[in-house]
Amino acid sequence: MDKFLIQGGRPLEGRVAVSGAKNAALPAMAATLLTDQPVILHNVPRVRDIGTLRSLLDELGVDSAVEHEEHGNRMEIQARRLLSPVAPYELVKQMRASVLVLGPLLARFGQARVSLPGGCAIGTRPINLHVKGLEMLGALIKVAHGYLDAKANGLRGANFKFDTISVTGTENLMMAAALADGVTVLENAASEPEVEDLANLLNKMGACIEGAGTGRISIRGVTRLHGAEHTIIPDRIEAGTFLVAAAITGGQLVLERSEPSHLTALIAKLEEVGVPIHTTPPRPGTFDCPVLEVRAGGPMRALDVTTQEYPGFPTDMQAQYMALMTQADGESVIKETIFENRFVHAPELARLGADISIDGRRAIVRGKTALTGAKVLASDLRASASLVLAGMAAEGETMIDRVYHIDRGYERIEVKLNKVGARIRRISEVP
Ligand code: UD1
Repeated sequence: MDKFLIQGGRPLEGRVAVSGAKNAALPAMAATLLTDQPVILHNVPRVRDIGTLRSLLDELGVDSAVEHEEHGNRMEIQARRLLSPVAPYELVKQMRASVLVLGPLLARFGQARVSLPGGCAIGTRPINLHVKGLEMLGALIKVAHGYLDAKANGLRGANFKFDTISVTGTENLMMAAALADGVTVLENAASEPEVEDLANLLNKMGACIEGAGTGRISIRGVTRLHGAEHTIIPDRIEAGTFLVAAAITGGQLVLERSEPSHLTALIAKLEEVGVPIHTTPPRPGTFDCPVLEVRAGGPMRALDVTTQEYPGFPTDMQAQYMALMTQADGESVIKETIFENRFVHAPELARLGADISIDGRRAIVRGKTALTGAKVLASDLRASASLVLAGMAAEGETMIDRVYHIDRGYERIEVKLNKVGARIRRISEVP
């Protein structure tokens, strides 16, 4: 298992490119199951979760080819036929987003057998809403031997209101409803940019979806979808992690290929903390992305934050923000409302010298504390990112074990950060 050895105390400086969004690429790949024609995706990030879903599609009998492009990968995927409707435990346990194949399999092939995701480092994370919604569309779903067994003899449009906002739940139902008979209305739907990106792809494939990006999505089912070509949106969480990386090291970074409009809550919070961020719009008449520039180095003040669904402060930035607050003056209260048990990084940050106490869903961070390098353990994707950030701010050497978690969602983060002045060495251990 790989480890990171980080030599801290070096301000970052330079330009860094943001990869495509993992959480947009995954549902886009699942959506390819809805047609027998090829779907071409660009800007697919080179991260492990994408490889996991590709292996799953392969098991189902889907053909895919990957080519390296200047920015991310080009993926051509074609689901001509179904060899097996089974998403096996071995793959689903590696990545619970594998459940995204459930809706498309049911809609196009009338059957799916998907392993229950099981325990997860950041809470129980049930999929009851995916199931309830698909049942509303007419699916028959049973649980046996750790698997969801789903069947449908043609799905029918229906109105469904989510009790809790669910990103992949909304995506699963949107994909299933795209091929259902009649109109489906999803209320209290997730409005994350990744949901909107999926709707854009589905519409290119011939679907009729309106309202994606808001809490009410309406989908008029069609009988067939066709091939399409689509470029995945930039990863707002990777971009956010780079903004915090500049802030925590007192550095200056220019982020290329980012989408600042997806980062409004984080940018507003960082500016209030005392981290100036400038956005330069693209040159008129070009398809360039806007450029984000962060110039840190001044004093930072501690500010409270509460995680919320989009457009609120993302739970996927909570751990990185906690690392930053260890370097701000004063006390901050970080409230996690989306997932229970998402403070596993706090005791690891404490090993580096942070002063953090946990009270249920609230973490109280007292800053500014000097951080000093130590051995720590990465426990989940975003927790690992917070440890890399803290390690870069710490004096001396930090060794992070189990960095495979970070490889699930960040494209060679150490290579990108080293290019802008970090000193992170990957130590690969052959098992
Ligand atoms: C997605 C993101 C993940 C992000 C999360 C919240 C992907 C692949 N992953 O995860 O990075 O942290 O959104 O922004 O896009 N819930 C239920 N029943 C369900 C489904 C969800 O109770 O059937 C609850 C969950 O336990 C959680 C909340 O709803 O408390 C939000 O979860 P959800 O939006 O579904 O997260 P994911 O889609 O798994």
